[in-house]
Amino acid sequence: LEVARTRLGGARLIIVANREPYIHRYREGEIDWIRPAGGLTTALDPVMQACGGVWVAHGSGEADREVCDEAGRVGVPPDDPRYTLRRVWLSREQEEGYYYGFANSCLWPLCHEVFCRPLFDPQHWQTYRQVNELFAAAVLEEAQDGPALIFVQDYHFALLPRLLKEARPDLAIAHFWHIPWPNVDKFLVCPWAREILDGLLGNDLLGFHTQHDCNNFLECVDRTLECRWNRETFSITRGGHETQVRPFPISVDTDLPRRYLGSTWESRAARLRKKFRLGQRPLLVGVDRLDYTKGIPERLLALDRLLGKHPQLRGTFHFLQVGAPSRTHLPAYRDLTEEVQELADRINWEHGTPSWQPVVLLQEHLGPEEITLLYRMAAGCVVSSLHDGMNLVAKEFVATREDERGVLVLSRFTGAARELTDAVLVNPFDVEELAQGLYQALTMPVEEQERRMRRLRTQVLEHNIYRWAGQLLSALGKMAPEPLPVAEA
Ligand code: G6P
Repeated sequence: LEVARTRLGGARLIIVANREPYIHRYREGEIDWIRPAGGLTTALDPVMQACGGVWVAHGSGEADREVCDEAGRVGVPPDDPRYTLRRVWLSREQEEGYYYGFANSCLWPLCHEVFCRPLFDPQHWQTYRQVNELFAAAVLEEAQDGPALIFVQDYHFALLPRLLKEARPDLAIAHFWHIPWPNVDKFLVCPWAREILDGLLGNDLLGFHTQHDCNNFLECVDRTLECRWNRETFSITRGGHETQVRPFPISVDTDLPRRYLGSTWESRAARLRKKFRLGQRPLLVGVDRLDYTKGIPERLLALDRLLGKHPQLRGTFHFLQVGAPSRTHLPAYRDLTEEVQELADRINWEHGTPSWQPVVLLQEHLGPEEITLLYRMAAGCVVSSLHDGMNLVAKEFVATREDERGVLVLSRFTGAARELTDAVLVNPFDVEELAQGLYQALTMPVEEQERRMRRLRTQVLEHNIYRWAGQLLSALGKMAPEPLPVAEA
């Protein structure tokens, strides 16, 4: 990260992400704050704390407004400010069309190949464009005093890089796309494919999790736009401007678990076992936002199959699923919540006894301390995404297991599976294979657990979030255009 910081030179680092890293809220007449669920903010907050700068994001409520100055700025983390959060305020209609609409009803299902039909609504598209323009204005204001490196996050801002480049060609702009990029035939059904691709080519550097995603993107561009694709350097030149397209597999802060666990984790674990009547039984855990890409019903069906096939396992373990409510205004998410609840109830009814329930479902948002505690307590962690850009739960679990125990059951259709090859890799669409994966997690000999976990840990510890940010920002720093005098910008 030192390298990246040096590469920043005198330039200001500005991150743009839809989601803010801290949400202020009213609690018993006072204002406190929470951290939102989801890998993106967890991964980038430590980077911003280390580098300083500005994080531009959608501000989410009255309490958020109250703590900010007139421009929407507040120092964060709230208890020890190290960088600036600049909030952009959106109307209900804008949030509806841009966030729930185009981003999460069109781009999210379009990019994740999980058979949820994307919604192509011209009104949503219109609002998405409008909100990208709104964020461009905020970023340009934050960057007005001189050179800046702009680091845009995710599918909420496909049009932002082009808008910024046109206004300030001197800005160095990188974009990281945190979700998969689909294959060309899937992507080109989008009526606004050209505009999205052109918007992204406003970047100097465009990052995806895997080379596979990069190749998919490059093929989409090649089929759609007038441009030159250099297949050796993985760069695209369009209208005289070059965009490099490269994989940067994201990771986690591997020091955090130790801090979150602290010296009291064992007594906290004992309290949690008592609260949920877990006894001393082994735990399998799943930690997800309640999202249809995460394969939660598939995981429960595999558990059902496991208990049907191996009745001797009844009463011997629990499956604890944390499902953080997410995007609940959208019908697909509400339907999923209902489906997961019904499945958990049915499985508990069919396999449970008065003193033992196989599934413990926590439909709430847990903080990082509690989640880390669950990882540490678990015999196994189950990640069964149907399609996932990376999946940081898998890496967080590995980072937590200093004891070199515990089994990771991991879907082959995650970016993480390409790196974490010592996990028990499964196809979540195959109920038998997933059930067998759960069985392995419950029965794997300690020596094999250790052998696998040691190798998993070497991979994750060597490729942590600082290395990710360092490599990305150094690559951007190297290709940054010479800063123009501000007066000409
Ligand atoms: C995924 C996306 C992030 C998003 C997170 C949580 O990880 O890539 O951009 O922030 O999900 O979703 P939400 O819609 O609550 O921000």
